[in-house]
Amino acid sequence: MELNDKTFIVTGASSGIGAAAALLLAAKGANIVLGARRQAELDQLAGQISQSNGKAVCLSGDVRDEMYALALVNCAKDEFGGLDGAFNNAGTTGEMGPVPDMQSDNWHNVIDVNLSSGFYAAKYQIPLLCENGGGSIVFTSSFVGHTVGLPGMAAYAAAKAGLIGMTQVLAAEHGAENIRVNALLPGGTMTAMAGDDPGFHEVVCGLHALKRMAEPSEIAQVALFLLSENASFATGSAIVADGGNSINKF
Ligand SMILES: NC(=O)c1ccc[n+]([C@@H]2O[C@H](COP(=O)([O-])OP(=O)(O)OC[C@H]3O[C@@H](n4cnc5c(N)ncnc54)[C@H](OP(=O)(O)O)[C@@H]3O)[C@@H](O)[C@H]2O)c1
Repeated sequence: MELNDKTFIVTGASSGIGAAAALLLAAKGANIVLGARRQAELDQLAGQISQSNGKAVCLSGDVRDEMYALALVNCAKDEFGGLDGAFNNAGTTGEMGPVPDMQSDNWHNVIDVNLSSGFYAAKYQIPLLCENGGGSIVFTSSFVGHTVGLPGMAAYAAAKAGLIGMTQVLAAEHGAENIRVNALLPGGTMTAMAGDDPGFHEVVCGLHALKRMAEPSEIAQVALFLLSENASFATGSAIVADGGNSINKF
């Protein structure tokens, strides 16, 4: 299969887009290191992957912890002998509200989960990818902060836009080592992050040209593309898969 003997770290694998991506990568033959805080959800996903003859190991932890990023890389090396890429996807919106009302603790938490985690990930993933002769890193960013300013989401927008800047620098720094780095910008996607309020979903659907939200599996397909050799000349990009959210005005 396409990704036979390739090894990828997927964070945010306990639900939503990360879980869908892990399932898809494993179905393509890849070995997966599953990361997130919720051990039970990771165990369940690993079981599902192994029942389909895929290979996955779980390592639970908090992406705000630099040593967790190192542990995930060491896990890939110890369990599967190296690393071919990573989908650094864990994220949170945090508490939403206007900036004058936003607590500094919330600001720092949202930046840490969404952005500092990406720095820690890259810091430890890149040396192992260099040993491997190259690889692909994908960060989950968002249309929020890139093409759309949504009220109440200043910290999230800043973090997700920051990931795009970091993506560009990492791509420039490590392109000569055959390491590609891209940001994936999903539109509204039906996950826990989007909540379960039908009224809210209806409003969000209306923001998109396609007049619907994405299924996690649709975003996972774009992650698969960016992580695979099919995207061999794509690096430093902010790849929008947003159902036309960014271009829609009516
Ligand atoms: N859904 C959307 O509409 C949408 C749109 C654009 C971008 N995104 C981005 O897509 C990514 C995936 O989100 P999702 O929509 O799939 O939502 P989700 O189902 O809520 O998934 C979020 C994932 O991040 C993990 N996570 C959160 N905080 C963490 C922490 N401190 N340490 C480790 N893992 C942590 C969660 O796992 P644990 O709780 O088990 O730790 C979970 O697996 C996020 O980066 C999000 O910002 C989502």
